[in-house]
Amino acid sequence: MLNDRSSALSLLETRRSAKPRELVGPGPTTEEMARILTIASRVPDHGKLHPWRFVTVADDQRDAFGALLRQALVEHDPSATIAHHEKEVEFAHYAGQLVVVVSAPVAEHKIPVWEQELSCGAAAMNLLVAAHAFGFVAGWVTGWRAYSERVRQAFCGPGERIAAFVFIGHASRVLEERERPSLADVWTPWEPPAL
Ligand SMILES: Cc1cc2nc3c(=O)[nH]c(=O)nc-3n(C[C@H](O)[C@H](O)[C@H](O)COP(=O)(O)O)c2cc1C
Repeated sequence: MLNDRSSALSLLETRRSAKPRELVGPGPTTEEMARILTIASRVPDHGKLHPWRFVTVADDQRDAFGALLRQALVEHDPSATIAHHEKEVEFAHYAGQLVVVVSAPVAEHKIPVWEQELSCGAAAMNLLVAAHAFGFVAGWVTGWRAYSERVRQAFCGPGERIAAFVFIGHASRVLEERERPSLADVWTPWEPPAL
């Protein structure tokens, strides 16, 4: 657990995602998940709408999740091969805890949906950071599954959609660093327009 500023900075400076398919278990305990999701909920949220929620898929529900993905795949890609179907079953059984982050914006509200969706992204990001702070690694993936109407309906209500499948577990190997944007590419001082 983090106990000082330097370890907090170190976490933020070194955290990186894992590939969900490379995770090994175990995932967080129920108590750890409660704390991780509490931290994930502590994000900027204009209007206090909490326009997001978290759905966990239990280990003994992975077969049902796999069956759902296979059914969705038939609709998404009728020419999918047996190998493609096997890949969905594998996805459904990746190790660790699966958290489906659901974007749940409040429609017709004075807070624009865009801002509510940004808050959802912040919640998903905080979920990753919290998981890593607990000593786990995590990965955020979407893919066609997140946009399948059948999968959406299995996790979301009307007006909601899937923002992330986040798997939380342990790394099976050392995570290599990936290229990051140079600061010069993402940081510019403002230049006021001529008026
Ligand atoms: C909305 C969103 C969806 C993503 N979906 C996928 C995906 O489907 N497959 C994938 O390999 N990476 C996906 N990524 C990228 C990874 O989550 C992640 O950005 C990458 O592995 C490096 O993350 P890191 O900067 O935390 O190390 C997605 C990222 C975001 C923000």
